[in-house]
Amino acid sequence: MKPFYITTPIYYVNDKPHIGHAYTSLACDMIARFKRLDGFDVKFLTGTDEHGQKIEKAAAAKGISPQDFVDEISQSFRNLSTILNLTNDDFIRTTEPRHKQAAQHLWNQLVASGNIYLGEYAGWYAVRDEAFYQEDELIDGKAPTGAEVEWIKESSYFFKLSAWAEPLLEYYANHPEAIQPESRRNEVLRFIEGGLKDLSISRRTLKWGVPVPGDSDHVMYVWLDALTNYLSALGYPSDGYQKYWDQAIHMVGKDIIRFHSVYWPAFLMAAGITPPKTVFAHGWWTVEGEKMSKSLGNAIDPVEMVDTYGADAFRYFLLRDLSFGQDGDFSKVTFINRLNTDLANAYGNLCQRVLSFIYKNADATIPTPGEFMPEDKALMAMPKALLPNLRSAIDNFHLHRYGETIWQIIGEGNRYVDAQKPWSLKKEDPVRMATVLYTLCELIRQIAVLTQPILPLASAKILAILSQEKSDFSALEVALKPGLKIDEPQPLFAKYV
Ligand code: MSP
Repeated sequence: MKPFYITTPIYYVNDKPHIGHAYTSLACDMIARFKRLDGFDVKFLTGTDEHGQKIEKAAAAKGISPQDFVDEISQSFRNLSTILNLTNDDFIRTTEPRHKQAAQHLWNQLVASGNIYLGEYAGWYAVRDEAFYQEDELIDGKAPTGAEVEWIKESSYFFKLSAWAEPLLEYYANHPEAIQPESRRNEVLRFIEGGLKDLSISRRTLKWGVPVPGDSDHVMYVWLDALTNYLSALGYPSDGYQKYWDQAIHMVGKDIIRFHSVYWPAFLMAAGITPPKTVFAHGWWTVEGEKMSKSLGNAIDPVEMVDTYGADAFRYFLLRDLSFGQDGDFSKVTFINRLNTDLANAYGNLCQRVLSFIYKNADATIPTPGEFMPEDKALMAMPKALLPNLRSAIDNFHLHRYGETIWQIIGEGNRYVDAQKPWSLKKEDPVRMATVLYTLCELIRQIAVLTQPILPLASAKILAILSQEKSDFSALEVALKPGLKIDEPQPLFAKYV
């Protein structure tokens, strides 16, 4: 099986999870699920970023030790995996020994290759971004992101980032797939072309971090520490990490592309490790037209959403409504409309009308079909024929197209029911009724196989009603057996006002 490696950013544990975290994780989960069904050996990693000044401050504000603080909030991110029904294979915390060892090893490699020197940093630091800014980058005394900055002057280790501008540009010229989408790639290239300055990679006045090997007065800059998580979870530096590493895809939000596509590949190249295969930056959600913010208190809480609407519905909306890669707005009205239109009225209705009709009128048994008409054959051939399109939607990160493509077939299914009218065939032509119902069950079965990455819970229910054991994509080719009993179907999706 071909290895496949996908990662979410590791989330800061300064606050509880919101829709932004859920979004990145769900996108990765959708891709990971698809790849597993498509026969890949998948490793899907998520976790928490637990060091740095931001966390130290947040713990102090609560009057508890940083360790107690991160233990508590990291757990809420772990719980989010269960709530969102994520299939991550690992959950890494930067406070774990396996991670600290890997980060220190990477540091030593950078020292050994002559890429680290001791100097003095004098400049601005934004705790919220955990990022350094030059005087000329500030706008009205704040970071370009709007974060407050503070002046820092202290001894610091530096990474010779300036030496890596040319190698990075050359790497990106030869690897167009390494930064996606195209607009982000251009943004990163322009930034590198503007010249890179050496980067401060340690802090002396901060205690909450991974100690710099050989100099316990310093802790590592939190981004160098955090980025290494993608390697530590693979067992780096032990042999064997390369198997997945060569296939690495980092899914990130657009705000952290620079860390992933400039600093991280430069650290890696300097340590003799190939950069990640792809960094994909997705867009940001606003809420009812406004930026999410603590002061507005308008953050969407994924736990509440799942409690109210279920994990499938929340997931479906996020991965279907927004063109993946673009920014979008979360509005309650659009959300409810989409759930009602696509889930309850289209997909749910197709399943419910067919399965409950069989349950009530066909002895709760998948009927044995008579001779298939061309329209039956055409319908049953449709979902499996979509697989190449779906594969390309996933491989090209057009995640919204996935649902779009399948829902066209769901529309075809509902039109077929309307045209064939199985309820009238019951008396007029029972053999034809059996053929029509079988055709519809086969359609629904294939759709349920294909919708697993986007609606895992509903798909599992349908596949269970149809007694399907095998559900990877090879199941598309094995036609449904007639004669199986079905349980009473329950509506799959609620309707909301
Ligand atoms: N800890 C760093 C990542 C280190 S990775 C080595 C971090 N953490 S974060 O918790 O602040 O953000 C995690 C992710 O959430 C980012 O990809 C970010 O883009 C995403 N989002 C935060 N708010 C968001 C929206 N409003 N909309 C969509 N995604 C957003 O950065």
